[in-house]
Amino acid sequence: MTLDNDILDAIKSLFPRYPTRRAVVLPALHVVQERLGWVPPAAVVEIARLLELAPAEVQDALSFYGFFKQDRPLGRARIWVCRSLSCAARGGEDLLAHLCARLGIRPGQTTPDGRATLEVAECLGACEQAPAVLVNQTLHGNMTKEKIDALVDALE
Ligand code: FES
Repeated sequence: MTLDNDILDAIKSLFPRYPTRRAVVLPALHVVQERLGWVPPAAVVEIARLLELAPAEVQDALSFYGFFKQDRPLGRARIWVCRSLSCAARGGEDLLAHLCARLGIRPGQTTPDGRATLEVAECLGACEQAPAVLVNQTLHGNMTKEKIDALVDALE
């Protein structure tokens, strides 16, 4: 089993909050992504079994959203660099290039030591703080290369 009892219980605890098992697919994928750092193919089958759906139905939902990782676990920090208009106009592309060079990876990749996964995001809803970066759940605005370097230095 890929999903241990804690994860299965966390998913089951969602059932009363949704009208159907099918409606639990996305929340369940979030639970697994958060707990395991990815959603391996075996987890898709186990989620489907729990929700009484075909694995393909869970896989379709997973594939539709770029948020979930299925090839390997995420890095401990997931860094989203906004590439939408306001951020691009204020140096977001340069920041992304700097971050790629600093981490030695491209968007969508994870550092070999598992410290970070780099992602590009559409507007993070913080245009007034452009350029903006999201690190896990924390938004960082008015970013500069120096601030990015400090963030990278602080990664475990
Ligand atoms: S355009 Fe980057 S936060 Fe809105």
